[in-house]
Amino acid sequence: MIKIGINGFGRIGRALTRINLRHQKYRIVAVNDIDEDIHNHAYLLKYDTTYGKLRDDKVEVEGDLIKINGDSIKVFREREIKNVPWDEMGVDLVVEASGVFQNVKQAHEIINGSVKKVIVTHAPNQGIDFSYMYGVNSDQYDKSRHHVISSSICDANALGPFYTLIEREFGIDVGEVTTLHPWLSYQNLLDGTLQSVSSPGHLWRDYALGRSSIGSLIPKETTLCSAMQKVLPDSVEKLHASSFRTPTSIVSSIDGVFLLEKSTTLEKVQEALEAYTEKYPGVLKLDGRSLISIDYLGNENAAVVDMRWLYLNKGKMLKFVLWYDNEWGYTSRVYHIISRLL
Ligand SMILES: NC(=O)c1ccc[n+]([C@@H]2O[C@H](COP(=O)([O-])OP(=O)(O)OC[C@H]3O[C@@H](n4cnc5c(N)ncnc54)[C@H](O)[C@@H]3O)[C@@H](O)[C@H]2O)c1
Repeated sequence: MIKIGINGFGRIGRALTRINLRHQKYRIVAVNDIDEDIHNHAYLLKYDTTYGKLRDDKVEVEGDLIKINGDSIKVFREREIKNVPWDEMGVDLVVEASGVFQNVKQAHEIINGSVKKVIVTHAPNQGIDFSYMYGVNSDQYDKSRHHVISSSICDANALGPFYTLIEREFGIDVGEVTTLHPWLSYQNLLDGTLQSVSSPGHLWRDYALGRSSIGSLIPKETTLCSAMQKVLPDSVEKLHASSFRTPTSIVSSIDGVFLLEKSTTLEKVQEALEAYTEKYPGVLKLDGRSLISIDYLGNENAAVVDMRWLYLNKGKMLKFVLWYDNEWGYTSRVYHIISRLL
């Protein structure tokens, strides 16, 4: 069984661990986090405000091990990814989920011995061999050359497949999208400073991001276009995006329009979407039910296309709404690409 190591045991690291409990495809053998309180790591894994309690799984601490249903995960407390003995633990692939750039810079240094690949769970500008998105550019992945691989960001994982399909079938002249993204741990509960909690030492630039995360929609810039460009270089000239932080804890949405190059019909767009979902199972899901964001909690798809709002104006202007669980959906994508990369 493929052995996984996780660097950074926060929202994404713990979601990955829970997803593995459900699918049992890999063995997680090592976790590293600067937070030294192993009992708190075990507690946060067992009890989760967003996803609920792990009811049927036994989580225990024994020395430097977290045991889940008897399976041991060794917990390390290193600040730098290169100081964790991944190779000694027989780890095949490390998921770098600390979000700290220093760890991305060091990622190539840990590719030795048993460690063959590192997946970085964001889209840094440097230090990456390839940005991989299944169903988008996965055919360009070269196992012999690409070792440190970005799994991009949640918003790009949601938009990428839809964008790729529409571009390929009908051509995109220009596109304008707004991401609606729940609060993140670096934001403040009450108005405050811009000091980042999740990335110590980092200061966010926009004063609005220091404002209370509950009670207001906070407009902000997004890294969606630069992340898309790393996977789909041609999108740079076509796509523009902005974002709102929403006062909700989980599940994002993208509300957008594409001006198509070729005139078409809504039926043809629907047919193309259906064909895509068959070709790339698990990536896009089509849903016409009258649902709201929280109903997509725990959804494993990269994005759900809300068929109620798919609308074609004069055969050329395609309006769409996508839903995605920014933690569980994104981490499920990371989870499913692990075996494809090795
Ligand atoms: N939360 C999301 O919706 C989401 C979605 C997609 C991608 N991401 C990306 O995944 C990464 C992690 O996000 P998260 O939401 O899990 O953040 P988080 O703050 O919940 O978790 C980060 C964890 O890393 C630990 N950490 C910090 N510095 C470290 C270091 N030097 N070495 C080891 N561990 C360290 C922290 O203690 C924390 O437990 C970020 O890059 C984020 O942009 C997050």
